[in-house]
Amino acid sequence: MHVLTRLALAAGVLAVSLAARAAPLPPDGERLRPLIIGGVDAVKDQYPFMVSLQRLDFGDSDHTRHWCGATLISPSWVLTAAHCVQGATPAGYAALAGATALDTTVRKRASNIRAIHVHPAFNGSTLVNDVALIQLRKPIDSVAPAALLDGGDSGYLRTGRLFDVIGWGNTGLEGEAAAPAVLQTVKTPFVPFKTCREAYPGLQPGTSICAGTEGIDSCQGDSGGPLLVQRRKQWTVLGVVSWGQGCAQAGYPGVYARLADGYIRDFIMATWTRD
Ligand code: ARG
Repeated sequence: MHVLTRLALAAGVLAVSLAARAAPLPPDGERLRPLIIGGVDAVKDQYPFMVSLQRLDFGDSDHTRHWCGATLISPSWVLTAAHCVQGATPAGYAALAGATALDTTVRKRASNIRAIHVHPAFNGSTLVNDVALIQLRKPIDSVAPAALLDGGDSGYLRTGRLFDVIGWGNTGLEGEAAAPAVLQTVKTPFVPFKTCREAYPGLQPGTSICAGTEGIDSCQGDSGGPLLVQRRKQWTVLGVVSWGQGCAQAGYPGVYARLADGYIRDFIMATWTRD
């Protein structure tokens, strides 16, 4: 979700952000000030399926309208986070696919969204089932969609596994919001559920994937975007950027909605017509 509007987040998430801000900062100079957090510019066409979900009431360029990340999973369907589109109307949003740099020049954009389907069991305070599907008015045939796993993901949820996470979200740490025009990418390490639960005791088993380490994470504005693995040459989405306490803090990984979770998979299979 956009840096400037994280105040609009659900109360539970807001409490998490505020808790992060209250944590003592290390002395100047010892602070990590890396670029997502800790990433690098993506190369043009590296992630062709990446979508910037745009809020049409949110400024006058593609850069200022960026609201959340999202993923093209078939020509007419885009996967994002439920908290990015809860209560949204199709007319207020647009899905911008195939961009690496978001244009900063003043230009109008029209909605290309037919329908928004939020997971019916999305919980705005725990952020369980934080996924939504967006159906486009017209298929986007110019870019290759990302794949979803057919089976389970447990083979990928192993210590030492690195995922790619990408987005146009905040590249600065608390209080130093910076919104990049160029898509950022970072390799973020898998964090086992037991370890993740030490940071987030309320976390429900099976519903999420945790990833990240000090200095490496997704952040505000990356929500809705994909957590990826590459199988042979095929980019495959395992999770959706959902939440975290602050960003890239030691001991507080990012939390991703887990697409292989039964309730999430059922929703996707029941909604997505694959056209
Ligand atoms: N909720 C944020 C958003 O709306 C994403 C936060 C991800 N945080 C993290 N530490 N990985 O953009």
